[in-house]
Amino acid sequence: MARTSPRAGQLRLCVIEGDGIGHEVVPAAIEVLRATGLPFSAQHAEGGWDCFRQCGTALPHETVELAKACDAVFFGAVASPSHRVEGYSSTIVGLRRALDLYANLRPCHSWPIATSRPGIDLLIVRENSEGLYVRRERREGDTAVAERLITQRGSARIARVACEWAMRRRRKLTIVHKANILTDTCGLFRETALHVASDFPDLAIDELLVDTAALRLVTSAEQFDVIVTTNLFGDILSDEAAGLVGGLGLAPSANLGDESALFEPVHGAAPDIAGQGIANPLAAILAVGMLLDHFGERARATIVREAVDHVLRHGPHTPDLGGRAGTRDLGRAAVEYVEDRVSSADAGFARSAPADL
Ligand code: NAI
Ligand code: MG
Repeated sequence: MARTSPRAGQLRLCVIEGDGIGHEVVPAAIEVLRATGLPFSAQHAEGGWDCFRQCGTALPHETVELAKACDAVFFGAVASPSHRVEGYSSTIVGLRRALDLYANLRPCHSWPIATSRPGIDLLIVRENSEGLYVRRERREGDTAVAERLITQRGSARIARVACEWAMRRRRKLTIVHKANILTDTCGLFRETALHVASDFPDLAIDELLVDTAALRLVTSAEQFDVIVTTNLFGDILSDEAAGLVGGLGLAPSANLGDESALFEPVHGAAPDIAGQGIANPLAAILAVGMLLDHFGERARATIVREAVDHVLRHGPHTPDLGGRAGTRDLGRAAVEYVEDRVSSADAGFARSAPADL
């Protein structure tokens, strides 16, 4: 599912800032992408809660069409109300479905900051198209029912992605489920994942119930390499994992399908800090790194990750990292680092295989 070159020589990006801090972190990340010197064009598209309030839909048809026509989508964050609003449904869930972005890769590793635990380097491979997120919910009087959809096809394709990533990493895969209680849905996921994994004899395969996995992340996250799990479990465990290594301001993700790719920070619209210019842009900048890797731009991706490492070591820092700097200050520091490294690197920018996450 990795691409080695964009379709038309120049990468065409559909950029959806969304809501809240999406408007702050996405411009910073795009500036970093520009600083890498990669030729690309960015076309902006609407989506999110503000878009819904203005035009009656959180995911306009034109946005989906543009996303399909581009090589990749770069997404900020959207706000979703925690109660039913007639006509509203989540932009990001809709995009994942429209583009069949079935694999959500969420890497998590230690950073050189006091709030990060050392020795962690794991990748959560979250099934991104099924589970409870199919939104088949209904009210029946004073009872609410949600259907949880798990298919053999969906489980097999995500398991295969996870096995392939594990083979490129430390060759250890943990299948996370709750098959002791959810014997049909999680049972099918577990069975299928184990079956797929049996095609990879060089992998060490392990399985954990999701509650135990949540505990082990807190007590011994160092033991994990690749975790594969269902949609909701992956959503929750990846925020937990982010909390071990510095927080959501440092957590990027890639949503991949066979035809499309979308890159985004894991965090949401953060209404508590939106508009103050203090959101940490490093998660979005790391999502740029994942985008570059996806398109085989390994040298540029490495420089972007080094820029994040540099900013974390030397500052400036936003309040979530214990500092007083703003989004733009961190963005500028990352851009300066990338520009310096790009101008001093002679070549190294030949396309190569995607990096290990
Ligand atoms: P959130 O991820 O927006 O924020 C959680 C906490 O982390 C907040 O205290 C926030 O200030 C902090 N935080 C998040 N990103 C940060 C950054 N880059 N720099 C510094 N601090 C950061 O999750 P929350 O508050 O639960 O949800 C807010 C809204 O975002 C909701 O409407 C939710 O539906 C939406 N959401 C959207 C997502 C997406 O677009 N992919 C993902 C998660 C939530
Ligand atoms: Mg989440």
